[in-house]
Amino acid sequence: MKILIIGGGNMGLTYAQSFLRAHISTPEHMMILEKSPEKAAELAKKNIGTVYGAPEECLNEADLIILAVKPQDCEVLFKTLRPLVNEQQVFLSIMAGVKITTIAEALGAPKIIRAMPNLPAQVGMGMTAFTSSDDVTRIELVMVQNLINTTGKSVYVDKESSIDAATAISGSGPAYVYYFMDAMIQAALRMGFSESESELLVKQTFRGAVDLYNKSDITCQEWIKKVSSKGGTTEAAMRSFVESEVHKDIIEGANAALNRAVELGQKK
Ligand SMILES: NC(=O)c1ccc[n+]([C@@H]2O[C@H](COP(=O)([O-])OP(=O)(O)OC[C@H]3O[C@@H](n4cnc5c(N)ncnc54)[C@H](OP(=O)(O)O)[C@@H]3O)[C@@H](O)[C@H]2O)c1
Repeated sequence: MKILIIGGGNMGLTYAQSFLRAHISTPEHMMILEKSPEKAAELAKKNIGTVYGAPEECLNEADLIILAVKPQDCEVLFKTLRPLVNEQQVFLSIMAGVKITTIAEALGAPKIIRAMPNLPAQVGMGMTAFTSSDDVTRIELVMVQNLINTTGKSVYVDKESSIDAATAISGSGPAYVYYFMDAMIQAALRMGFSESESELLVKQTFRGAVDLYNKSDITCQEWIKKVSSKGGTTEAAMRSFVESEVHKDIIEGANAALNRAVELGQKK
């Protein structure tokens, strides 16, 4: 299968490198279309595939085309691709907020998969939600899921609206985690730890808590109960969190992200 990645930026490069690292593709089977000549020259040095500057040079050779340009660049891109597209080609779009019908109509292509990855894909720990148009076959879907899984884990969702919900949870989620981590680092600094000690205390605590949770079959609520002994320190912290409604605030924050994802999707 020949893969063409359009847009050799952060995500395009992450995908190319993940496919190669997982030996799911080879540089001979990969093409990258990048409009910036400087970036194209840099990409060409990386031995990740053949780099092209115009769709006429590569699109007809591709079986799978990954759309990894910024959403605001897609209109121009679609116009250049449309005369070159054939109906058997599968398109995987990772562009935030751009709907399947918009892509299918603009390209005149029926086989569209839409995915929402997140930033940890860069280190193989990403979370991606994806869905597809009816014309994508099961085999094509499995092939694309195998590619996506080289960047972490994935979940197939039936409804396209769930992509907006995944954007609010796993897409924006890393920022929520950093926000919580940052507050804990600030607390550690105020308690007298150095910057590097504070970061170490917090990073390792997050990593350990998540690993422990992953290796068990009990819920977060149950883990909280296990850590909080009666009259102890954790219970004091949890009581303070409950009083300040931190839990409710996080749910409201995620809902604000969902509303914004829906709003942005309507504009496109
Ligand atoms: N970064 C993330 O964590 C993340 C997470 C989820 C989804 N996404 C989605 O992934 C997509 C890519 O994000 P990114 O962070 O990788 O963006 P990026 O670093 O800006 O990469 C996009 C690349 O595409 C190039 N490009 C633009 N128009 C083109 C065209 N017509 N033909 C060929 N190349 C073209 C850009 O060149 P110029 O710089 O010259 O314009 C740029 O090099 C976005 O749609 C975003 O919504 C990103």
